[in-house]
Amino acid sequence: MNTAPVNTGLKDLRTEKSPEGQCPYLVLRDPETVREVLHRPADFSPANALVAATPLSGQALRVLQRARFALPPVLASNDTGSHAGIRKVVAGYFTPATVAAIEPRIRQLARESAAQAVEQLNSSGRVDLVQAVAAFPPAVIMLELLGLPVRDLVRLKCWSIDSLELFWGCPDEARQLELAHSAADFYRWLRELVLESVDAPGRNLFKSLAGHGLSTPEICSMGYFLLIAGQETTTQLISTSLFRLVQGSGIVTWDEAAAEAGARAAVRHVLATESSVPTWRRVAVQDTLLGGELVPAGAEILLELTGNHGSSAGRIPRDSGQPSGAPGQGSSAYTLAFGSGIHRCLGAKLAELEAAVVVQETAAALPGIRLQDQTPGWIRLLSFQAPRTVTISHRGR
Ligand code: HEM
Repeated sequence: MNTAPVNTGLKDLRTEKSPEGQCPYLVLRDPETVREVLHRPADFSPANALVAATPLSGQALRVLQRARFALPPVLASNDTGSHAGIRKVVAGYFTPATVAAIEPRIRQLARESAAQAVEQLNSSGRVDLVQAVAAFPPAVIMLELLGLPVRDLVRLKCWSIDSLELFWGCPDEARQLELAHSAADFYRWLRELVLESVDAPGRNLFKSLAGHGLSTPEICSMGYFLLIAGQETTTQLISTSLFRLVQGSGIVTWDEAAAEAGARAAVRHVLATESSVPTWRRVAVQDTLLGGELVPAGAEILLELTGNHGSSAGRIPRDSGQPSGAPGQGSSAYTLAFGSGIHRCLGAKLAELEAAVVVQETAAALPGIRLQDQTPGWIRLLSFQAPRTVTISHRGR
C-alpha cells in the first residue's frame, strides 16, 4: 500500500519541483485541485498535452519532417473555439447508444481471444495475456466504430507503443532516432488511410472531419492521437487489471472476476489506483491564482489522475512491479481517470466496457492458472503505464 503523503497545495508542489531541479512540472495531486484546473480551461490550457516530454534531437526531428509529420491542435491539445465543434463530430462515433450496441461484438472478440489463449496455454504450457487477449480487441473495435478498415493491426500496436515512448518517455538520442522512424512510418501510413477514407463510400470519421472543414494535416493529427489513444490505453488498462488479478492483489479474486460485477470492480479499482493514463498535462495561460497561490504564466502542470501518489512526481517512474495505488481510493480518484470538463475522454464508457468484458471472459476461460513471471517489465512513461507482459501457466506446474 502506498503511504506517500498527498499534496494539497502549491507550496508542496514547488518544494517537490525544486530540490533536484529535475521535474519541469508543477505536480498537482489533490483531486479537488486537479478537478479545478481541468474546469478552468481559460487559465489552464491543454496546449502542451501532446508535446514531447523529452526534447527531440535535430536528427529525430528531421526524420519526422521528412514524413511531413505535424500535430496541429484539433482536439486534446486544442484550446481555441474550434474545439467544441470538432469534439461533437468525434463524439458522434462514441455515443452511449453506439457503445451499448457494440457490447456483443466486444464479447465475441473477447471470447475468441480467450479461447486462443486457452489453446496456447494447453499446447505450450504458458501464455502471455497481453498479446493473447489485451492487445487486439480494443484496436478492432475502435477501427470498426470509426468506419475504418481493420488492417495492419500488428504494426498499429508497435507504432502505438513506440509513439508513446517518443512523446512521453525519456529516450536517448539513438533511441529517439529509432522511435522517430517508427512514428514517421505510422504517419505516412495514416496519411494514405486519410486520403483513401475521405473518398470512400459510407460513413467514417476522417470523411466526417473533412466535411467539418478540417485540412488533411488536421485530420492526420486527429488520427495520430485517436488511433493510439482509442485502443492502446485500453490494452494497458486490461493488462494491469489482469496482472493484479492473477497476482492476487486485485480488489477481487481471479475467480470472482469471471462474473460481470467482479470484472467491473477490478477494472474500476485499477482506474482509481494505477490507471493506464496516470497523469495529464496543462499549461498556465496567464498569471493566475490556484488555492490562493500564484501560478505564473507558462507554468507546465502535471495532473495526477489516479492514486499513483508514490510515482516520482513528474520524472519518468522506474519499474516497480508493485501496486502503486492505495486500495480503497475514493470515487473522485476514479472519476478523474478520464479527465474532467470540456476535454473529458470521449472513450471513457467504451474503454471501461471493453476492459471489463475482456477481463471477465479471460478469467472465465482460464480457471486454475498462476502468474508465471512475477516481475515483468513495465511500460512506465510520464502519462502511460502497464505491464508489458502477463505470462501465466497452469497452477501446480
Ligand atoms: C483506459 C482507457 C483510457 C483512458 C485512461 C483515457 C484517458 C484520457 C484522458 C486522461 C484524457 C484527457 C482528458 C482531459 O484533458 O480532461 C483523454 C482524452 C481523450 N480520450 Fe481517452 N482514455 C482512454 C481511452 C480512450 C478511448 C477508447 C477513446 C476513443 C475511442 C478515447 C478518446 C479520447 C479523446 C478523443 C480525448 C480528447 C477529448 C477532448 O480533448 O475533447 N480515449 N482520455
